[in-house]
Order: sequence, then C-alpha cells, then structure tokens
Amino acid sequence: MCSVFRVSGEAPEAVFSGGAGAAERTRRLRPVPPPPPPRAPAVDLAEAEEFLRLFHAENRVDTPIQQRLARMRYEVDTTGTYRHTPDELAYGAKVAWRNSARCIGRLYWRSLKVRDLRDVHTVSGVAAHCVEHLRMATNGGKIRPVISVFPPETPQRPAPRIWNEQLIRYAGYRNADGSVLGDPRYTRFTEAVTGFGWRPPAARSGFDALPLVVETREEGAHMFALPPDAVHEVPITHPDLPWFAELGLRWHGVPVISNMRLRIGGISYPAAPFNGWYMGTEIGARNFGDTDRYNLVPVVAERLGLDTSREDTLWRDRALVELNRAVLHSYHQAGVTITDHHTESHRFLTHLAKEESAGRKCPVDWSWIVPPMSGSQTPVFHRYYDTEAPGPNYYGDEDATHRALTGGPPAFA
Ligand code: ARG
Repeated sequence: MCSVFRVSGEAPEAVFSGGAGAAERTRRLRPVPPPPPPRAPAVDLAEAEEFLRLFHAENRVDTPIQQRLARMRYEVDTTGTYRHTPDELAYGAKVAWRNSARCIGRLYWRSLKVRDLRDVHTVSGVAAHCVEHLRMATNGGKIRPVISVFPPETPQRPAPRIWNEQLIRYAGYRNADGSVLGDPRYTRFTEAVTGFGWRPPAARSGFDALPLVVETREEGAHMFALPPDAVHEVPITHPDLPWFAELGLRWHGVPVISNMRLRIGGISYPAAPFNGWYMGTEIGARNFGDTDRYNLVPVVAERLGLDTSREDTLWRDRALVELNRAVLHSYHQAGVTITDHHTESHRFLTHLAKEESAGRKCPVDWSWIVPPMSGSQTPVFHRYYDTEAPGPNYYGDEDATHRALTGGPPAFA
C-alpha cells in the first residue's frame, strides 16, 4: 500500500499509473508563481553538427546528412533549439553511456532501453513515469538498463528537474547523540522533505525510501511517495554465517541515477533518470563500508570476533570481504541481477577491445574503474587509458548535487 501525504489547501492530486490504482496525494512545496525563466542559450551549432554526423556515420539513415544538417540549422536559427528524431535520441543516450569514463559496465551500451518522454511536462506525469521506470527496470529481478528522457532545456521552456540523486534512496535520521539511523548521506535531504511535510513510517528503519521531489517552472516543486511495491529490495544474508541475517540489512535492487544531465548534440536533458544493475562492491564496499555511509565494517568485524585492536591484523579487509560475499550471495538468492568486480573487470576489457577494433577511443577514469576492493587482483588495475571523454555524455552539476544532498534551493526560485 502507498503512504499518503497530508495535503495543504490547494495542492493538486497525482495518480501513479500502474500503481495498483492507488491515488497519491502530492504536496506543493512553493506556492508563489516564479519569476520569468532564465533563457537557455541557443544550441551550439558545431556540437549539434558533430553529433548528427556521428549518428549518420554509425547508423543506416535514410535522410541524407546535408538535408538533416540544413533542417537542424533552420530550427536553431528560428527557435534557438532543435528536436532530435526518436532514433537520434535513442542513439545519443546509448553513446552517452558508451562515453561515460567512470562506468565499468559499458559492454552492454547498445542494450539500453530508451523511453522517449519528451512530451511529459507535469510534475505528476514525471513522477508517475519514474515509478513506471522502476517497474520496467526491475523486471521482477532480471534488471534491464533503462533511461527515461523527459523534456529538454529550451529557450521557450525550462526542463523539469528531479531533485533526488537516485529514484530510490534511503532516509537518514539524525539522533540526539549525533549518530544516524539510515543513510548518513541523506540526513539533510531527509530533514528538508520532512520540513515539506513528508511523514516517515511510524516505525523508522535504516532503509526507508525517501519521496521523489519533482520540480517544473510552471508548477514548482512537489513531493511524491514511491509505492512500496515499486521498490524491490533484497534482504542481506551470508552463505555460511547465519548471524548475518540478524543485522537486518537490506538494499534496493536497482540503482537509478536521476540528477545527471544527458547532453546530446548541444541539447541538454536535465531530467533523464537511467539505470544499469549493481556491481556488488558498490553496496558491500561503499554503501555499507564507507565510514560516512552505513559504516558496517567494525560491526561485522566484531561479530566475526576479529582482533580490532591493531590495524595489522587486517580486520577491516577480512570483514569487508564477508560483507561483500553477503551482498553477492543475497542478490543471487533473491534472483536480482548483480555482478562481481572480477567478472565485470574482464567484461570491461572485452568492451575496450571491441571499441578499439571499431576504431574508437574509449575514455576511462582509472580512479573510478578500478574496484574499491582488491584492485590489483583485477586486470583493469594494470594499465593506462585514454581519458578524454567526448559528448554525448552524462554530466553532474553543482546545483543538482546540492539539491540532491540538501533538498534545495528550488531550481526556479
Ligand atoms: N554507486 C551507486 C550506488 O551504490 C550507483 C551508481 C550506478 N551504478 C550502476 N551499477 N549502474 O547506488
């Protein structure tokens, strides 16, 4: 069942499609009409041309390139922007993945499913399609890479914004003694949405999904609870340590990044949530292991009875391995797609070889590609790479990161 927000006077209602007929109430976060939009700069013609030439070079396209370029220039001259064909959009999103220097999972870049949602302009429409994205991507556990592309930034109309860093993230509740229940990365975001009227579950846990916040210039920012059945989770157990289940850990099946900007041929799509499937270390080493996240290595080490009085017993390393075995084991048990860092490193080298034989450079950020544990045990550690990442690509920006971590300020204030 869905949780429902208390709604102040004039707040509209949004209905989640596919939400078992559940009507979600939303809460308007800012009632006053915003000032006129800052006008987006006109599209850079050289960037647009470069992308269209790439699209024509790598695909069979009926329209001759000169005709396509003339059409694009005419649109940019008269409107300051141009519209991608559905095929250009789909290819652009895939190539943006291919160009993502920090992603080790790029072997499957062609398989990305691209949802063309450029005509969805309302906050409730965006939120409903985000929920639909979760269902399609989750696919009962057999995770599919999906991107949902909402309207682009144009001189006529600013694009919608999704404030959240990912569609599913867990609340972090600060206790009086300074400790945190849940994900410490999101304590400020949690406080902000609580201030907007979000009600945490009656019994708080370390894994309470935060509401989505979607903002448009016309409607302002609104909050939407995720229907619990759209949040597929995996309880964490260990292949041979029965006490592990008692830690009460779980994690969501699908990571959907929702605050990066997709940029294709000079057009910017700030709301374009996308997902792949997890590599175990993202959860076991970073989300569970980082000292400023769930910080579970000392907890596991103690349950393992390790000597934590000296660093040189390598208790951290030993506990980290068990934590990561538990994550991989649990996802496999639950039938949710996941991969380990050894397998994925080999696949990545296959991808590099394929790109090389296609005559392309493959941009790689070594510091992101080498896994956060056992780096030198993986082949990706032992070499250098091209680093320069061309467009199309996915970009983070300071404002979007700030909003995702603190819940403000609005994009159109
Ligand atoms: N590292 C992020 C997390 O733990 C997810 C980033 C994207 N990962 C992916 N496998 N597509 O939630």
